[in-house]
Amino acid sequence: MNVLALASHKGGAGKTTLAAHLAIAADTAGAGPVAVIDTDPQGSLTDWWNERGTETVAFAHTHPSRINADLKVLEAAGVALVILDTPPAIERSIASAVAAADLTLIPVRPSPHDLRAAGATLGMAERAGKPAAFVVNGAAQRAGITKDAILSLSRAGPLAPVTIHHRTVFADSMTDGRTAGEVKASSPASQEIHRLWAFVAERLAQIASSPLQTETLSLASARHGMAIRSVPRVRKTFGQRGQERKYAA
Ligand SMILES: Nc1ncnc2c1ncn2[C@@H]1O[C@H](COP(=O)(O)OP(=O)(O)OP(=O)(O)O)[C@@H](O)[C@H]1O
Ligand SMILES: [Mg+2]
Repeated sequence: MNVLALASHKGGAGKTTLAAHLAIAADTAGAGPVAVIDTDPQGSLTDWWNERGTETVAFAHTHPSRINADLKVLEAAGVALVILDTPPAIERSIASAVAAADLTLIPVRPSPHDLRAAGATLGMAERAGKPAAFVVNGAAQRAGITKDAILSLSRAGPLAPVTIHHRTVFADSMTDGRTAGEVKASSPASQEIHRLWAFVAERLAQIASSPLQTETLSLASARHGMAIRSVPRVRKTFGQRGQERKYAA
């Protein structure tokens, strides 16, 4: 069984959006049975799954203190992929998910605040001895700030070779429990997610075949010594963080 965590210390980076989209993309690609776990008290992934009303992907509960035991139960039940969504600022929950995961994907919006926070999440994965990769999410098309963010992140650690752009269908589709690809399979949003899943699947396969990951980790550690610089030419902050706050515990 493979375990993927979506984690970022920064709120609103796109963890829940990418967790849901990757779960459906993985299932569609035949990598299931897939189970999602929502470790965030805000419960956004839970709401999405409840809206969905189908069991295309399974839903499981856990607690940071028993995450490893619960993962073993899922593995024994035949689950092939678990996707863990995490809260933005609850250090213990993020740390336990990252430590339990084979791979952590760190969504980063191309904004100075997100870039500053991204190194903390990568550092957490490195301390746990676990592989991680950044993915740029919510990027504006043809924006210099996006290119600058890609450059900064690729210097700081592993970076997914696909950028997820800001597209309203990512948010719209989730309001009634779907994903962008289920609204329109051939859309650019859907294609971006399938390319991101292809990257994740390849990394998980590499990790399974060489569990120590020494090369990736030593590379990441070497780069992590460099601060992730905030990007120049910033005129406004990315991110819409109003909507999800209504679930705050
Ligand atoms: N690529 C995107 N294009 C458009 N909207 C997006 C994109 N990614 C995320 N969003 C929207 O941005 C908001 C924050 O995304 P999301 O809830 O996935 O972030 P999060 O990291 O899970 O947040 P939190 O830290 O609060 O858990 C949501 O309203 C979501 O619909
Ligand atoms: Mg979330």
